[in-house]
Amino acid sequence: MIYDLIMAAFADVEESDHQEHFLVERLHQSNTFIPELSLVAETDNQKIVGYILLTEVEIVSKNIIVSSLGVAPLSVLPEFQKLGIGGRLLKEAHKKAVLLGYDTAVLLGHKDYYPRFGYRRAIDFGIEFPFDVPSDCCMIIELRPNAADNISGVVRYPDIFFE
Ligand SMILES: CC(C)(COP(=O)(O)OP(=O)(O)OC[C@H]1O[C@@H](n2cnc3c(N)ncnc32)[C@H](O)[C@@H]1OP(=O)(O)O)[C@@H](O)C(=O)NCCC(=O)NCCS
Repeated sequence: MIYDLIMAAFADVEESDHQEHFLVERLHQSNTFIPELSLVAETDNQKIVGYILLTEVEIVSKNIIVSSLGVAPLSVLPEFQKLGIGGRLLKEAHKKAVLLGYDTAVLLGHKDYYPRFGYRRAIDFGIEFPFDVPSDCCMIIELRPNAADNISGVVRYPDIFFE
């Protein structure tokens, strides 16, 4: 399932197998689910046009396991894209994550999209993802200054992502 999200991240949403909502449903029922970090964007007449979910992941090194957040999925209805909704969802989720005490968030995504919101290549911090994908698309944001300075290792997604 994570690979479906990766495909959605690298190409048009049509590349999706349209199963992502099942992942979201499973994540909602899992212990990685954080209600405050499940956000929808609505129009004035309550139409849901965007969604973001951040769930807990770990960054695992030899000596230490550090909690982080995985952004997946982030999606905006095609006819509402390029209006700033994706960016607002991200920024709002980041604010809430900080209030909850999280220092970093990671994602697989468009290398030309996420850097404008502060994401940087994870590999530059010594952080790797467990997928065979270009390192430019594996990103991390420091939600507090220098939060990733002393973190390195491999991102571990919960098993539920792979079901
Ligand atoms: C990626 C996505 C969430 C962006 O949402 P959005 O509301 O359209 O984004 P914003 O309005 O905040 O930002 C729009 C800007 O991002 C750019 N952008 C959007 N998708 C992009 C992509 N795949 N690659 C590079 N830039 C992209 C737009 O060109 C636009 O740039 P501009 O401001 O210079 O004109 C949305 O396009 C989407 O749902 N895509 C399909 C699902 C998906 O790929 N999700 C991400 C999985 S990691």
